[in-house]
Parts: sequence; structure tokens; C-alpha cells
Amino acid sequence: RSPIILDSDPGLDDAVALQYLLGTGLWDLKAFTAVAGNVPLDHTYRNARALTRALRIDGDVPVYRGVGRTLSRISPDSGGFHGENGLGDEIIPDSTAPHQTESAVQAILRLSKEYEGELTLVATGPLTNVAAALIEDPDLARRLKKLVFMGGAVHTGNITPVAEFNVWADPEATDIVVTSGAPYTMVGLDATHAWRFTQGDLDTLVAAGPGQELTANLMRHYLKSYDVNAGQPDCPLHDPLAVGVAADESFVTAADGTIVVECASELTRGQTVFLPADEARTYAYSDAIKARTLQTGRVALGKGPRNFSAH
Ligand code: BDR
Ligand code: CA
Repeated sequence: RSPIILDSDPGLDDAVALQYLLGTGLWDLKAFTAVAGNVPLDHTYRNARALTRALRIDGDVPVYRGVGRTLSRISPDSGGFHGENGLGDEIIPDSTAPHQTESAVQAILRLSKEYEGELTLVATGPLTNVAAALIEDPDLARRLKKLVFMGGAVHTGNITPVAEFNVWADPEATDIVVTSGAPYTMVGLDATHAWRFTQGDLDTLVAAGPGQELTANLMRHYLKSYDVNAGQPDCPLHDPLAVGVAADESFVTAADGTIVVECASELTRGQTVFLPADEARTYAYSDAIKARTLQTGRVALGKGPRNFSAH
């Protein structure tokens, strides 16, 4: 099993991403790090601890408290999309494990040294913790085996017409990550919108009975939230898909290229512009933007050939 860190803002689909990660049996989860995002850090950190208890890993997988404000010093939230507490107002008892003295940033840096060249980092919330770690020690970028983040979009948006929530919440952090030289894969809305969870999937989960109640309750809330807030009868599997792609890219189609993040414009803040590797030099951008094409990553563009089913 390969060492991995899951950095997230639980978050209904973040919670399911954690369950899915453990369920694959592929990973040795070294740390579960919380960041502010869907709800403020006090909630995401508490939820992260509670989830480790609910999933019976609270003695084994340490939870670390991350950064509570984005690089532009705001405290993001998703406006109640994930319920007031971030878990659809599901009440899950807190973990009784002692609190870690290390911060999420310190833990990420330490583990990247202990597992240099082997460690996968999957981020399913705003990239604030990862960027803070890169600011403290830019060499983190070359110590990671892989960095997969759920965020961004090439052709769409969800929080604005052109921006996805995680990147919109902290565009400056995303910019640091995609220019760091880390071997990143961006799993954005173009791919996550293509893998949906339906009412039929929920029925299957409920019928599966004991052991599946937590996932079923979280996904019931998520389906309802997409229905009420977005008028969609089913919901994307955003965060679980990023975990899936960390192990197997064939859940998505992907291409090499550069992501440039819009950090300045009030109108398009958080937009991720994709410059495909083979076309970037033909665009009419300034030399400064073209110089960025030296930093390339993998970018998910849609549904892949392998079927993705997080449950
Ligand atoms: C992302 O935003 C959050 O609300 C979800 O947890 C996911 O990480 C989708 O845009
Ligand atoms: Ca998330």
C-alpha cells in the first residue's frame, strides 16, 4: 500500500472520498488534514476527527488542523450547500483521540521527507494548506510523487459561470501549486460532472444495509442539496473522483498542459485557463503568460473509459 495524505474540507463528498480511499485498500493513509472551505476550519477539523472515529481509524490515522484563512485572508464557506456543520447536519460524535501538536502544514512537510518520492497528496478542498507548505518549503514540490487536486474547470464553473468552488475560494493558493513544479493532476468539473450519483445509486446503498448508513445519509443530503440549490436530480462525485484518479487515471480522459489561474479580476476570479501542451505556444498571450507553459501538469477533461463508482 502506498503512502498518501488526504487534505480536505469535509464536506459531504470529502467524507465520502475518505471512505472510498480506505475502501480501495490501495493506500496507507498517513494523515488526514483539514482546511477551511465548505465550512469554517473549526467545523472541517471537527468533522475530520469525527469521521475518523465513525470509520474506526481514529487510533491509526492522525488528523491535523490546517489553515483557517485563505491566502487573501478570507474564511471561505459554501453558503450552506453542505449543511450548517458541513456534514449535512448529520450528528457524528467527535473523536476521543488526543489532538495533534503538529499543524497540517508541518505534518505535510515532515511526511514528504519521510516518504520522499513515494508520497501522494490528494487535496479535495481549497489548496490553502498545500500552498502554505510550499511557501514554507518550496522543495516539497519535488519530494511528492503525485499531487492530485479536485478543483478548477476547463469549460465551466459552479460557484460562478467560470470558476469552481475550491479554486475560487483560494485562487492565490492554486496559483502557487500549479507554478510550484509539483507533479500535479487537476481533476476539475469537466470530469467530475461526468460521473454522477443518482437516486438509484442511493437506493442500492440503502439496500446494502449495515455498514453503509453513514455514506447513505451523507449522499442523501448531497443529492437533496444539488436538487434544492442547483435544480439537478443527481449529483457529481467530485472529491471521490480525485481519489480515484490518484490510483487510476483511466477514470478520466486527461491531457498535458498548463493551468493559469485568474487571481485579479473581480468578474472571473478563480477561473482556471487550460493551455494544452501542444497548442500553448500558438496562443496570443504575453511572453509572461507563455513562460508559464514551462510548468505543466495533467488536466482531466472528461469521463474516461473505466467506470467510476465510489460506492
Ligand atoms: C468542490 O466544492 C466543494 O463544495 C466540494 O466538496 C468539492 O470539493 C466542488 O466544486
Ligand atoms: Ca471538498
